[in-house]
Amino acid sequence: MARILLLITALAVCNGYLQYPDNENDLQELYRIWKGEYEKIYDGHEDKKSYRTFKENIHHINQLNKLYDGRTGFELNQFADMTPSEFQQRVLMSKRTAPVFTRDRYAEFDQTNPLPESFDWRDKKMVTGVKDQGSVGTCWAFSTVGNIEGQWAMQGHPLSNFSVEQVVDCDGTEDVPDQKADCGVFGGWPFLAYQYIERQGGLESWDDYGYCSGNGKCFVCPAKGYNKTLCGPPVPYCLKNESCEAKIDLSKFVPGLKVTGWNAISKNETAIAYGLMKTGPLSVALNAEKLQFYKFGIFEPHFCDPSLLDHAVLLVGFGTEKTLFGTKDFWWVKNSWGAKWGYHGYFKIKRGAGMCGINTQVTSAVLMK
Ligand SMILES: *[C@@H]1O[C@H](CO)[C@@H](O)[C@H](O)[C@H]1NC(C)=O
Ligand SMILES: *[C@@H]1O[C@H](CO)[C@@H](O)[C@H](O)[C@H]1NC(C)=O
Ligand SMILES: *[C@@H]1O[C@H](CO)[C@@H](O)[C@H](O)[C@H]1NC(C)=O
Ligand SMILES: *[C@@H]1O[C@H](CO)[C@@H](O)[C@H](O)[C@H]1NC(C)=O
Repeated sequence: MARILLLITALAVCNGYLQYPDNENDLQELYRIWKGEYEKIYDGHEDKKSYRTFKENIHHINQLNKLYDGRTGFELNQFADMTPSEFQQRVLMSKRTAPVFTRDRYAEFDQTNPLPESFDWRDKKMVTGVKDQGSVGTCWAFSTVGNIEGQWAMQGHPLSNFSVEQVVDCDGTEDVPDQKADCGVFGGWPFLAYQYIERQGGLESWDDYGYCSGNGKCFVCPAKGYNKTLCGPPVPYCLKNESCEAKIDLSKFVPGLKVTGWNAISKNETAIAYGLMKTGPLSVALNAEKLQFYKFGIFEPHFCDPSLLDHAVLLVGFGTEKTLFGTKDFWWVKNSWGAKWGYHGYFKIKRGAGMCGINTQVTSAVLMK
């Protein structure tokens, strides 16, 4: 990263926002450095295609940085060799509308005390380290497990990492009336994943059942119950010895960790802030198509359909920032794209405006006391 930054500052036309160079020599040098930084290895044909995409992305990032004039910043990252549609297909989930739950599912929170200006569960050690899902659609399992890690720590247990891979491999929960299903590397829903963990009776730790789906280290078969109609065709190739049935070990479930239910929170972002403070880190979803190259600032894209969700993440806090025109409220959100992305793996998104649907699928597991 340091070397990429050096090259930018050396060559950029600096108007308070980042601009990558646009002449061929510098672009080639930047591409070479970027490949080293992110350990990208391509064969000849792939390399040509990837370089073409890289250049298009740089052009796009320069435009975004100019548009936002230093308030929100975008930069090259591990996704610089993916076109927006490749990013959508591999890393995000297919666009989906949020289910609406029955009324008794929604938790209510006391709102008599005023909300503080800022709040963050990271300060209270309720959030584990940032993970990297890799180039597969497993965000929903990271979001689910992040919420459960928080719920566990809120009960006074030591904060620890739980298995995301178990959920990816084993959860084929479907909700036919709602037309929703959990589909492993092809996406899923936290509200269904809580139900899987409840039925299964527990979760292993991250160390006992490690993540391998997103880093090419395993070829996992579809979970039992995988619904082809709702999920699409399953992975074309998998190894039986790497399936859920081969790997899950009930004797390694974290002792005492049981999901007994789950709750949702209304779309009102004031209620969500109270709910966050009362409950712990919350699973949320959003339309993340514009998030590919985000680096800093409050994420607030001009066009972002809030009804088309494609990414699940974890809400951990909120705050308010001074701007030229007053103040702007934002949420702090934990992502699963590694710790180099955004603010050490986190992003800020505008609060109180239904931005990208961030308020439309707020849920939490309930654990056994
Ligand atoms: C959990 O995993 C992360 C990422 O590998 C690591 O940084 C962290 O130390 C682990 N433990 C906790 C409690 O976050
Ligand atoms: C899969 O989903 C379809 C569409 O919702 C539904 O009609 C079908 O019953 C489901 N299949 C199974 C095996 O549950
Ligand atoms: C499954 O089998 C393959 C090929 O025999 C092997 O490379 C892989 O390490 C095995 N995976 C596990 C989890 O044992
Ligand atoms: C959200 O709830 C608060 C307090 O309960 C209320 O004052 C506010 O008007 C609501 N906001 C919206 C957008 O409905």
